[in-house]
Amino acid sequence: MELLLVFVLLTTCAAKTQDLSGKMFTFPMETNRAHVRLNTPRQNLEAVTVCHRSFTDLQRDHILFSLATPTHTNDFLIFWDATNKEIEPHIRDKKVEFRGQDYKPNMWHSICTTWDAESGLVQVWFNGQPSIRKFITSGANIAGPVIIILGQEQDSHGGGFDIKQSFVGMMSDVHMWDYTISPCEIQNYVDQRNFTPGNVLNWSALDIQIVDRVLIENKVAVCY
Ligand SMILES: *[C@@H]1O[C@H](CO)[C@@H](O)[C@H](O)[C@H]1NC(C)=O
Repeated sequence: MELLLVFVLLTTCAAKTQDLSGKMFTFPMETNRAHVRLNTPRQNLEAVTVCHRSFTDLQRDHILFSLATPTHTNDFLIFWDATNKEIEPHIRDKKVEFRGQDYKPNMWHSICTTWDAESGLVQVWFNGQPSIRKFITSGANIAGPVIIILGQEQDSHGGGFDIKQSFVGMMSDVHMWDYTISPCEIQNYVDQRNFTPGNVLNWSALDIQIVDRVLIENKVAVCY
């Protein structure tokens, strides 16, 4: 059961593109430092879809996805609020809440979040179940330079981490598109069938920097 493939301690900053198919990030401890930075050349987004899978036993607030720009530290952020039991997308520093998801600990959950700047509507698909569509913010694009981080919540552009909002657990299949993908594509993603990979972040060709103790491991252990 030794599936340790990459283990980077302390700061490593060599950017490299990797195919992470079948792999996951393991965030094995509560810290205000360990994180993964996801690099993209895309710096102007008039619409966004982010899909990811995560697995945790945290019973407190925690971050799932954090995109910051110099002017908006919560430019596209997905957050679990444990007190109110709600998924909170923050976009352009505005926030809405979605309640009623069965966000159980110790199992994988697929979460897809869509938004477009024209209508200003945001929607969360939790394990393939759509939320209602809520207005959050319209009329302005997300405009870079963007910094995208997994594992920590940015309170400044690339920093300002809070240990009590850190993510502990596993995360996989992170994709980001510069458009709202269709409900069919979301269903394909959730069911792990063929779908068009993200054109902003593509799990099969990811340019990442790992800082401190985050591991890349195989997602499924095969028994013979
Ligand atoms: C995602 O990465 C894979 C592997 O490099 C590549 O074949 C595919 O074209 C990429 N898809 C997009 C939309 O960039």
